[in-house]
Amino acid sequence: MQWARPYRLGMTDFPKTDRLMQRGAEFLGSKYAILCGAMSWVSERNLVSAISNAGGFGVIACGAMTPELLETEIAETQKLTDKPFGVNLITMHPQLFDLIEVCDKAGVSHVVLAGGIPPKGSVEAIKGGANPAKVICFAPTLALAKKLLRSGADALVIEGMEAGGHIGPVSTSVLAQEMLPELSEEHLIFVAGGIGRGNAIAGYLEMGAAGVQLGTRFACAAESIAHENFKKAFFRANARDAIASVQVDPRLPVIPVRALKNKGTEEFTRKQIEVAGVLDREEIAMEEAQLQIEHYWAGALRRAVIDGDVENGSLMAGQSVGMLKAEEPVADIMQKLMAQSEEALTRR
Ligand SMILES: Cc1cc2nc3c(=O)[nH]c(=O)nc-3n(C[C@H](O)[C@H](O)[C@H](O)COP(=O)(O)O)c2cc1C
Repeated sequence: MQWARPYRLGMTDFPKTDRLMQRGAEFLGSKYAILCGAMSWVSERNLVSAISNAGGFGVIACGAMTPELLETEIAETQKLTDKPFGVNLITMHPQLFDLIEVCDKAGVSHVVLAGGIPPKGSVEAIKGGANPAKVICFAPTLALAKKLLRSGADALVIEGMEAGGHIGPVSTSVLAQEMLPELSEEHLIFVAGGIGRGNAIAGYLEMGAAGVQLGTRFACAAESIAHENFKKAFFRANARDAIASVQVDPRLPVIPVRALKNKGTEEFTRKQIEVAGVLDREEIAMEEAQLQIEHYWAGALRRAVIDGDVENGSLMAGQSVGMLKAEEPVADIMQKLMAQSEEALTRR
């Protein structure tokens, strides 16, 4: 293949793609405007540093970590790369503001706020610390995108329902058509969900995206610490195996999660019925019920990623999982994506 040679020599220039990625790359401080979205348990020091060292932008998944654990993870990542990387914080974390302080002290350049609308004061705290960081938020609708930008978000990720993990109801292609023409001239918009090849990256860049975010494509890279069983399950899976969870009780609005179907996905349905029952008996408040659901996912994901229990654990994966066939080093994946994008743009 045309790119096989140069990419083995190291980080290559891809003039057409680089030009379209310029704004995004300048904002991130990386060579390529390709983020590896935070994946709980997967996006830790090894994968994050490998992504940033390969020219992309790695993001630590803080998940349910304590401030102390996050501090260690950032410090260990900094030992493995001198390139910028971000930290993804879940907005409903009870110690969100302490986590923001940890990022500030460590001089983290970019904080990604995920899992809901940023609580009052959080964006200001990130931008107003001793080491002001840039804020990246997720925007599920155009109205909310505009509101987040007005409230100080420096860039947005729009993520379609093809993605792995927690998802919204709209596909990436529709979100991109709705949002990019309205926002991308003035603002930095990164597109995520369902991207498995560089051709798709080229398409979104041409529509005005500043860059892209991928998760599934990097989850089973050679540098990923995910258990061998987790990786094998990914390599065996087809797009149609990555299904969205179903909400069983209208009062318990759980955010759907896309994962490979297994015993664990069935167990999740049972868990919802159980939590709904507890709600019925008014033994817990709605917020607590939703938190229990979230904790269920975090625990189940750990079981699959770390322990390799692919039967009962959660195999969060996007629909692009069908394009993954074998373990590859991050640098190879990155160069392939860029070469595919360049080839697509050159053919136009
Ligand atoms: C295993 C897995 C775990 C994830 N965990 C998180 C997370 O903790 N926080 C978050 O904001 N997004 C999470 N995501 C979403 C990714 O950051 C990313 O946005 C998404 O994977 C992009 O879509 P793709 O999977 O189609 O490439 C996760 C995705 C996967 C596959």
